[in-house]
Parts: sequence; C-alpha cells; structure tokens
Amino acid sequence: MVLIGFMGAGKSSVGRALGERLGWAFEDLDDRIERREQRKVSEIFRDSGESGFRLAEHAALKELLGELKPGGEKIVALGGGAFAQKNNAKLMQASGVSTVYLDADAAELWRRCRKQAEQQGSERPLLGSAESFRKLYKQRRRHYMKASFRQETGGKTVAEIVAALVSGLGLDRSGKF
Ligand code: S3P
Repeated sequence: MVLIGFMGAGKSSVGRALGERLGWAFEDLDDRIERREQRKVSEIFRDSGESGFRLAEHAALKELLGELKPGGEKIVALGGGAFAQKNNAKLMQASGVSTVYLDADAAELWRRCRKQAEQQGSERPLLGSAESFRKLYKQRRRHYMKASFRQETGGKTVAEIVAALVSGLGLDRSGKF
C-alpha cells in the first residue's frame, strides 16, 4: 500500500503507526532516496535542483516497486510530489499497488508544516510561502484524487486516522487486505 498526499498530510507518521498496528513493514521513499544518494533531500534540491531530485525519486521508486511481492505486507510513504509526476503514477499503476490519499485542506497542511519546521526543524525545500504552498496544492490535488482510496485527515490525530483506515480499507486484525 502506498500513501500519497501533500506535504504535511501525515504520510510518514500515519504509515509508521499503521505498520505497527498491522505488523507490516513501513518505508519512507525519501529515506531510500537519501540512502541511495548519500545526501539529504534538502542537499539534493540545493545541489541538483528539483529536476535532479525528481530523477533520484523516480529511480528509488522504481527500485522499491520492483522489490514488492504480490500480497506483500508493506506500507510505503511517498514524498508530496511523487504521485503528481506522470512517470511515477504510470509505474505505480503498472505495478498494481493500492494508493491511499491522505487529504486535508491547504490551510491545515500549511499549519502542520509550519509547526513541524518550528518544533522539529524539518526542512522542506518546496514549503515556500503560504500562497505558493496553496497554489502547488491546487495543482496537485487532481492527481491525488486518482488514488484508489481517499482518507480525510482534517482535525484527526494519527491514531484516529489509523483507525479510520483500518475500518475503511477493511483491514482486520490479521492484516488481510
Ligand atoms: C516534496 C515533498 C517532500 C520531499 C521533497 C519534495 C514535494 O516530502 O519528497 O521535499 O514535492 O512536495 P513530504 O511530503 O514528506 O514533505
């Protein structure tokens, strides 16, 4: 299962918690990119630009999807831009993985990202201003809406989102999907 959505949607925290709940493996695609590149995402953006990052992202996604086994119990969190790239969406469609869109409105996502930047020092090269953030959100939303399942996350805690996914996706305690 692949979790998609904009920056601040909770893909990594929900993915990790859902994995723990189901006993499934969890992987963050950005971590794989950093491992393969031996650089932080922010350094890739700084040194190679967004186009360099997208190339590294596509290569890492291809590698990861190639490792997935049919019925494999794994949750993958993608970075916010990955599913909006045509070549990545194509790869995922061909691989047959289920895509789950974690949705929230732009104002809430902006608040979450600002809070993470202030409290955890998280670096997001594409965070920009509130206005550019909203514009990018608008551009990408039509792509996210193509996911196989959409989960609203506005005003919900990670535990509440996990519970909603377990019931919405029909994932029982045995983790059958
Ligand atoms: C990006 C989002 C980031 C990361 C990179 C690009 C984007 O991941 O992949 O900075 O294009 O929205 P998060 O969505 O986890 O912040």
